[in-house]
Amino acid sequence: MDQLVIAGGRPLAGSVRISGAKNAALPILCASLLTAQPLTFTNLPDLRDVATLLRLLRSLGVQIEHQGSQATLCAQAVTEPVAAYDLVKTMRASILVLGPLLARFGYARVSLPGGCAIGERPVDLHIKGLQAMGAHIDIEHGDIVARAKRLKGARIFMDTVTVTGTENLMMAAALADGVTVLENAAREPEVVDLALCLIGMGARIKGHGTDVITIEGVSALNGAHYAIMPDRIETGTFLVAAAATGGDVQLIGARPETLDSVLEKLKEANAIIDLSAQQIRIRMRGPNHGVSLRTAPYPAFPTDMQAQFMAMNAVAVGTTVVTETIFENRFMHVQELRRLGANIEVEGNAAIIRGVERLEGARVMATDLRASACLVIAGLIAQGETLIDRIYHLDRGYEKIEQKLSQLGAHISRRSLEDA
Ligand code: UD1
Repeated sequence: MDQLVIAGGRPLAGSVRISGAKNAALPILCASLLTAQPLTFTNLPDLRDVATLLRLLRSLGVQIEHQGSQATLCAQAVTEPVAAYDLVKTMRASILVLGPLLARFGYARVSLPGGCAIGERPVDLHIKGLQAMGAHIDIEHGDIVARAKRLKGARIFMDTVTVTGTENLMMAAALADGVTVLENAAREPEVVDLALCLIGMGARIKGHGTDVITIEGVSALNGAHYAIMPDRIETGTFLVAAAATGGDVQLIGARPETLDSVLEKLKEANAIIDLSAQQIRIRMRGPNHGVSLRTAPYPAFPTDMQAQFMAMNAVAVGTTVVTETIFENRFMHVQELRRLGANIEVEGNAAIIRGVERLEGARVMATDLRASACLVIAGLIAQGETLIDRIYHLDRGYEKIEQKLSQLGAHISRRSLEDA
């Protein structure tokens, strides 16, 4: 098991390239199940979650050629539409194979994802949506077993905004008989990226990027070439790391228009942001003022950026409040930040952060993906050495993070436990 060692207290400076988006890559790779023709993807990030999904798709019979940031997938012959527990349990996004498998093969068996570190995260809306499209769904021995000769278009209202739920139903509807209308749909840029890929494959989709998506089913989809969008959460993480260390950083290949709420909050915290085509430069105007925020579905402030801002707020001037409205147990980084000297109190779904003058390096433990990013930022701010355990969480969603941070002047290295 690897650890990260950070000698903190240095401002980040320089430029770094943003990778493809994990949360766009995962659904888009699953879209390959919708057609017998090959699909070629570029700007695919090199991440553990992507590798896990490719393993799952291979186990279903998808042929995959993968080199660097490009992959060609062909689901001409899917041997068995069954996603087994071993793979699904390591990554909840595996549920994204359910809609495409059912729509194309009329049958799917996908293990129920278990609970996970950041809350209950049910999949009831995925299931209800497919049922509304005519699927028969049973839970057998911990598996979702779904059957439908051909899914039928339906009007589906989701009472909670769900990103992967919207994506699963959009993919299923692309091959259904008739028109599906998804109401209260997720508006996240990754949903739009998937819709654009599906449209490239011949799907008829309108309204992506709004909360009503209309999909007119077709009888078959084609192959396509598609470049995955840049990762807005990776972008946001580097921006906060730069701001929190008082640095001056340029991010290349980013999509600033997908980060409005994050950029506004950084300005409020006293950062200067310069935008040019696909580039964002950030530096501080003066002291870090920190910023209060509340997470909510896009275009509001993303839950996936909450933990990183908390690290910055820990050393801000004054008191800030971070309120989490999407997931019920997403403050596990708080106790680790406290080990570094942060003054944070949690009351229900709000964290009250009283800025301290400095954090001090300590040994901490990563508990989930974005909590890990928070600890990396805290380690970069802290005086002395911070050692982060269990960084496999980080490898799920950040490509070469220690190389990229080193490129920006951070003193950060990875060591495997054998060297420790
Ligand atoms: C996706 C992202 C994740 C992000 C999250 C919220 C991917 C692969 N992951 O996760 O990084 O943190 O969106 O922006 O894209 N819910 C239900 N029933 C359901 C489905 C969801 O009640 O059937 C609830 C969840 O418990 C949660 C809320 O809806 O409270 C939002 O979850 P959802 O958008 O589904 O998260 P994911 O798609 O799993």
